Order: sequence, then structure tokens, then C-alpha cells
Amino acid sequence: MEQDILRTLISEEQLHQKVAQIGKQVSADYQDKNLLMVSVLKGSVVFMADLMREISIPCEIDFMCVSSYGSGTKTSGVVKIIKDLDIDLKDRDLLIVEDILDSGMTLSYIKEMLKQRGTKSIKICTLLDKPERRKADITPDYVGFTVPDEFVVGYGLDYDEKYRNLPYVGILKPEVYTKAVM
Ligand code: IMP
Ligand code: MG
Repeated sequence: MEQDILRTLISEEQLHQKVAQIGKQVSADYQDKNLLMVSVLKGSVVFMADLMREISIPCEIDFMCVSSYGSGTKTSGVVKIIKDLDIDLKDRDLLIVEDILDSGMTLSYIKEMLKQRGTKSIKICTLLDKPERRKADITPDYVGFTVPDEFVVGYGLDYDEKYRNLPYVGILKPEVYTKAVM
């Protein structure tokens, strides 16, 4: 696994510090609200698991699974719901927890869809942001790190379902995915 990584982009220590900082901020901002953290599977599970433990106010969690990528590295723009949320969203203050905001196509679709269900508010918390690649009109409310336009893996992020278990965020060697296409 390690031999496919070009270099570490964000270390475990940097991740830990940033997640703690976001957790404090969210706890303060949602003190008098009805916080429901929504994790978009599977990429955000590691971030979600760490972030929720840095939240000091009552909150609930739920999960949804959508697919927009297949096994490539560029988004298709087509979002398919594979698993929907279970909790009633009426009057809830939603915080959508994402691994990475890239084109933003996936998240803008999800946000619009969830808005229709009587939510009180919806905000977006993304660990990584790749603003250079943005196509949809969407701005995250909480951002961990702004990253360059390179394909990154680890801390939940995958390439072809692999590397999610790396404890840090690393840049994948381009030959790993160019090889797969040929
Ligand atoms: P978007 O709809 O283009 O914003 O795509 C968002 C999704 O694409 C993320 O939730 C990731 O699953 C995936 N993605 C985008 N960029 C990367 C990357 O650099 N590494 C791994 N997955 C990525
Ligand atoms: Mg993915």
C-alpha cells in the first residue's frame, strides 16, 4: 500500500489537530440547535468517527450512501442513492460531513434533495476542499484543508475502494491510476 503513495500530504498529527478544532467550532455554533450529523458513505466514515468525538453537545448521526464515481478518478455527474437516511429530517439542523469537495456535483445534488424534507438548516463540513475543480455552485461552511488538484487517498478516501485505511492523507502515484485505465 505504502509503495503506491507519492508523498504524505496531511499527517496524522495535522489531521488530529484540525479535527479537534472543527469539533470545537461546531460545538459552539450548534449549542442551541438540533444537530444531526450526516455522513456520506463511505469516504467520510473516518472523519465522521473522529469528528463526532470532538463534539461536546448532544447530537445524532445518520448515514447515506450515494455513488457518482465508479472506479475512475473523475466524477460522472450522475448521483445514485444507494442507501437513504433513516432519521426524520423535519426541523433538524443538518451538518453534512464529507471527505472531499471536488466538482461539488454530488454534494449540491444531496443538499437540494435533503432541503425538500423540511430541514431547518443544512451546512456542509468537508475535510478536504479542491476549489480549483468546482463545477457546482456550492461553498462549504467548514473546511479542514484546501488541497491541490491531485488525487489523494487515505483517512477514508479511496482509489477503487482501496487505501481507505491509511491513517494519513497521501498523494497517489499517477501511474497507479493511469495503469488501470490502459
Ligand atoms: P464531486 O461530486 O466531484 O465533488 O465528488 C466528490 C466525491 O468524489 C468524494 O466524496 C470522493 O469520494 C471522490 N473524490 C474526489 N476527489 C477525490 C480524490 O482526490 N481522492 C479520492 N476521492 C475523491
Ligand atoms: Mg470515493
